[in-house]
Amino acid sequence: MKIVMLGAPGAGKGTQAKMIASKYGIPHISTGDIFRANIKEGTELGKKAKAFMDQGALVPDELTLELIMDRFKQADCANGYVLDGFPRTIPQAEALTKALSDEGGKLDYAINVEVPDENIVNRMSGRRACLSCGGTYHVVFNAPKKEGVCDACGGELVLRDDDKPETVAKRLDVYHTQTQPLIDYYAGQGILKEVDGTKEVAEVFGDITAILDK
Ligand code: AP5
Ligand code: MG
Ligand code: ZN
Repeated sequence: MKIVMLGAPGAGKGTQAKMIASKYGIPHISTGDIFRANIKEGTELGKKAKAFMDQGALVPDELTLELIMDRFKQADCANGYVLDGFPRTIPQAEALTKALSDEGGKLDYAINVEVPDENIVNRMSGRRACLSCGGTYHVVFNAPKKEGVCDACGGELVLRDDDKPETVAKRLDVYHTQTQPLIDYYAGQGILKEVDGTKEVAEVFGDITAILDK
């Protein structure tokens, strides 16, 4: 099963993608998590990506595509994956469609998690992220068992550098101009599914599994 998660920053793509990955036994691939891991390790890629991410801008398509095409070659992708944060521009979506069709494949679902901008800033300020495994928590809505510690891997939970209110506003702008057009792109391919992301985490997941299990 090959799934793309769509939605604004903070809509809950990562939260739901992790749950999908564990229920269906496919890898969760988040370009944002991969960039953050590279920043943490101080790699060349990380240095390049950080400059864009801290501004709330997108990392250039070229860099992102190189990284993701490389990731697809790993053995765990054989039975599919859930993509979170990729594609994010029309050129990225077209490159993915082409890469898949070159090997006779295609995406099965593009799931758009809908949350209005008004709800987003609240979620971001309370978010805590694990830089080791990409786990995502919220101090109120989705708290870890032990404060500051990742339930899944025991890693340290931090406030992301790009979750400052000014940067969140910029990311929302970038989302509306560059990423939202993907909703029509996937509607045109007949694979778009929409879920209401303002519901509780477990309810949103129930709506998604109802689609995937059909
Ligand atoms: P990325 O890491 O992908 O960030 P994003 O798209 O901005 O999305 P977020 O991770 O902020 O939100 P999310 O939808 O995953 O929400 P979450 O589940 O955490 O990208 C970061 C940056 O990297 C980009 O700005 C760009 O610079 C670069 N980048 C990445 N991919 C790229 C690409 N393909 N091309 C170019 N550049 C790229 O949830 C948010 C919070 O809400 C959490 O605290 C969570 O616990 C809580 N929450 C979740 N669901 C609910 C719910 N139902 N009710 C209440 N709270 C909830
Ligand atoms: Mg995320
Ligand atoms: Zn972790």
